Amino acid sequence: MAEDLTPQVLKVLADADGPVITSDAFPTATFVQIKSAVDKLRSREYLQAEQIDRIELGLTKEGQDIAENGSNGARVFEAVRAALEGLKIKDLPAAVGDANVAKFGSGDAFKSKWIKKDGDVLRATTDTIQDQVQKQLLQIQSAKSLDDPKVVADFRKRKYVVDLKIIAFKLTKGPKFSTEFVKEETDLTAEMLQSGAWKTATLKPYNFKAKGAPTPSGALHPLNKVRHEFREIFFEMGFEEMPTNRFVETGFWNFDALFVPQQHPARDLQDTFYISDPPKADPPREDPSPATPGAPQPTSPKHKRTKSKEKSLDYKQYWDDVKAVHQDGKFGSIGYRYPWAADESLKLVLRTHTTAISTYMLHKLALNPRPARYFSIDRVFRNETVDQTHLAEFHQVEGVIADWGLTLGGLIGFMEVFFGKMGIRNLRFKPAYNPYTEPSMEIFSYHEGLKKWVEIGNSGMFRPEMLEPMGLPKDMRIYGWGLSLERPTMIKYGVNNIRELLGHKVDLNFIENNPAVRLDKD
Ligand code: PHE
Repeated sequence: MAEDLTPQVLKVLADADGPVITSDAFPTATFVQIKSAVDKLRSREYLQAEQIDRIELGLTKEGQDIAENGSNGARVFEAVRAALEGLKIKDLPAAVGDANVAKFGSGDAFKSKWIKKDGDVLRATTDTIQDQVQKQLLQIQSAKSLDDPKVVADFRKRKYVVDLKIIAFKLTKGPKFSTEFVKEETDLTAEMLQSGAWKTATLKPYNFKAKGAPTPSGALHPLNKVRHEFREIFFEMGFEEMPTNRFVETGFWNFDALFVPQQHPARDLQDTFYISDPPKADPPREDPSPATPGAPQPTSPKHKRTKSKEKSLDYKQYWDDVKAVHQDGKFGSIGYRYPWAADESLKLVLRTHTTAISTYMLHKLALNPRPARYFSIDRVFRNETVDQTHLAEFHQVEGVIADWGLTLGGLIGFMEVFFGKMGIRNLRFKPAYNPYTEPSMEIFSYHEGLKKWVEIGNSGMFRPEMLEPMGLPKDMRIYGWGLSLERPTMIKYGVNNIRELLGHKVDLNFIENNPAVRLDKD
């Protein structure tokens, strides 16, 4: 910590006849040092202080050099004078010892008629010179000004001097002035009461204007803030939120119902986390109530039974149809034609995408098919190698739209509106492959910071092999898309390492101090 100037300030003020200007009294002290002493003494009425700002002339590095060693012209003169036989022009820089000084100084020396050219040598015209520039700079150095505006303007142009803004205080004695600074007690202690010291102690007055100590409170995680913005966008566009409170799914809802074949690499242990206890879910029952948690049927199937048989949610039928469409082909599809294993479908997994929830909701929609818009934002799990940009869990933002007459062009158009609401305008679509959508498109956006196209989402139109076993009308079309919540959050908060955003390495200050987020909607 810098030295406390309080005693010196009091001493200077005691010795002075009138006001004291701090920049004069303490030319080497820093502003912070002066200010903290002045503030302390002012608040206790030892002194009154008036801030006075003024402009002073100060020397630049070059100006200081000249004040010390002479002007460029004088240094050239010295070099020429020292060479008694005259100095060859080409030897001047070496003789001066500085090419720049030689270059700028020779002009000055000629103009002052200190040197002259004699063939290819330079000769001095006199023995002594008056180095006016050096003198004037020395004067500026001590007086901080010069009474010759023309010269000052010239020095400014040559960058010998600059204007310095000086913030100083004009100090006068205050009503409680004393040469001794008495430290005020901030606490009345039991010891002071016992010893009687409180009678003579100087107690610090209460400062009722002081801000209270910050109260600790909870703070929303940046991911939650961005999630909030996404939810608003979905609600604004007429979406309903899907129930995502089921992290453990069956292979059936996570994969089979999505027409993901049982040999698909995504179902490998290296990609998906499997639950070992319980080892598997119950198979669907003919009568879906009562349900077992984790079973392919929903945990609370409180659905209405409708009169028409094919309109009720028959999970057994659904299960059989999913099997058929994989193994033998059905609904006009030739299927994958492999022996479908029920056990694979009953394995319990940490859901790898929220599309498991969308599937469950779309199956429910088949009870009463109608145009629908659903969304969810929640956590999914993948057996990834953890690095700067990947964790084994992340949050997926997912939406589905069911309606009649939907087209691929409509999906592209929708994406432009949806991402446009987040301020993302420049979109490109690339054909992609998902087992459950056809066609499928990856969505790219031009990243101005990275100067390249980055993938921001995956989308497509769900396949009939997925929708028809659910009992949805053949002519109903459904869009689906998904993106991570982490990527836009990292961009928004300038986080480069995902482990600083999520997990045990997160700095709580980062969470508490981040502002609310507003996606830039230009
Ligand atoms: N499930 C896909 C993913 O995890 C996203 C998606 C959802 C794609 C719906 C198409 C349709 O990336």
